[in-house]
Amino acid sequence: MSEYRAWRVYEEDGQFKGRIEALDTDDLPAGEVLIDVKWSSLNYKDALSASGNKGVTRKYPHTPGIDAAGVVLESADSRFKPGDEVIVTGFDLGMNTPGGLGERIRVPAGWVIACPAGLDLRQAMVLGTAGLTAGLSVAALMERVKPEHGPVLVTGASGGVGMVAVALLAKLGFEVEAVSGKANASQPLKQLGASRVSGRDRVDSLPGKPLLKPEWAGVVDTVGGAPLGRLISATAHSGALTTCGMVAGISFESSIFPFILRGVTLYGIDSVEIPLARKADIWAKFAGEWAVDLSPITHETGLEGVGEAVASLLDGTHSGRTVVRHASA
Ligand SMILES: NC(=O)c1ccc[n+]([C@@H]2O[C@H](COP(=O)([O-])OP(=O)(O)OC[C@H]3O[C@@H](n4cnc5c(N)ncnc54)[C@H](OP(=O)(O)O)[C@@H]3O)[C@@H](O)[C@H]2O)c1
Repeated sequence: MSEYRAWRVYEEDGQFKGRIEALDTDDLPAGEVLIDVKWSSLNYKDALSASGNKGVTRKYPHTPGIDAAGVVLESADSRFKPGDEVIVTGFDLGMNTPGGLGERIRVPAGWVIACPAGLDLRQAMVLGTAGLTAGLSVAALMERVKPEHGPVLVTGASGGVGMVAVALLAKLGFEVEAVSGKANASQPLKQLGASRVSGRDRVDSLPGKPLLKPEWAGVVDTVGGAPLGRLISATAHSGALTTCGMVAGISFESSIFPFILRGVTLYGIDSVEIPLARKADIWAKFAGEWAVDLSPITHETGLEGVGEAVASLLDGTHSGRTVVRHASA
């Protein structure tokens, strides 16, 4: 028996409550790679898992954590050996497979990426799934939109995906407008490179018409719902939008006109089930030409701070990125 600590969520009398406890490595699921998790991070999906969202996690007790970075302890797959520094994000990690909020995970080798040179394990988790999603969004947007085409907009800008997207787009030379519902987000967003920070009413007050005055060459949308519909109408000719999230709703109204009269493109972003090689491409970019300084928006906690951070993700007061440091880091 080998003990490890985890932030474990229990369903008790219809309530979902997390607490730290000692677990046995032998009880982890089968998988080729056993990892000593040094760092994890918190994403909106972890808050959903921790609060009993059965679309994310079906069975409790459960250890959430869709992100993990650590060192290989055992590997039955020749691609990895003990001591290798690795990253695991997405697939089923933290959903119905014990996740990165435990000090140990055991996962299929097909989920594991070697941490690229140029990125340490903590930096990898400062980015985490939020960073990977922002990277995928920016890569998709740039298939159509270049800095010289005009300003771009980021919604949900004080969130994890939003802040990394703002920092990355600014680094790549875009003029970035950030939309945030938080009055205190303006200073950090400008520090990350936003040229302009607007309130949510900037989008909410756009009329619900098929075509609006084109305002942005591109949009990284992280909130979905009605705002996404309005933004499609306000995207310039040959422009593009990416959509990854649904905090503002799962459906939106739009019309065919932005697509057939302006050639607008809408990219769906999935960071979870895409091929491992695509994830590795994005990680490699962040280790090199996409290196962004996220220290001003990074909060660090141990397992004891997870409950509070999860509550702030759920009530919409969380901003930036929270990394979770495990004892062996
Ligand atoms: N498709 C994928 O693979 C993938 C991967 C990662 C995340 N996601 C999804 O992407 C979204 C963002 O993730 P995240 O980790 O950045 O979450 P997050 O840190 O919780 O940020 C979400 C942000 O959305 C804004 N927001 C919250 N409620 C809103 C509402 N009712 N209307 C408009 N804006 C609202 C807030 O920003 P402001 O206060 O600044 O407006 C909030 O900070 C989530 O829905 C998440 O599930 C998808």
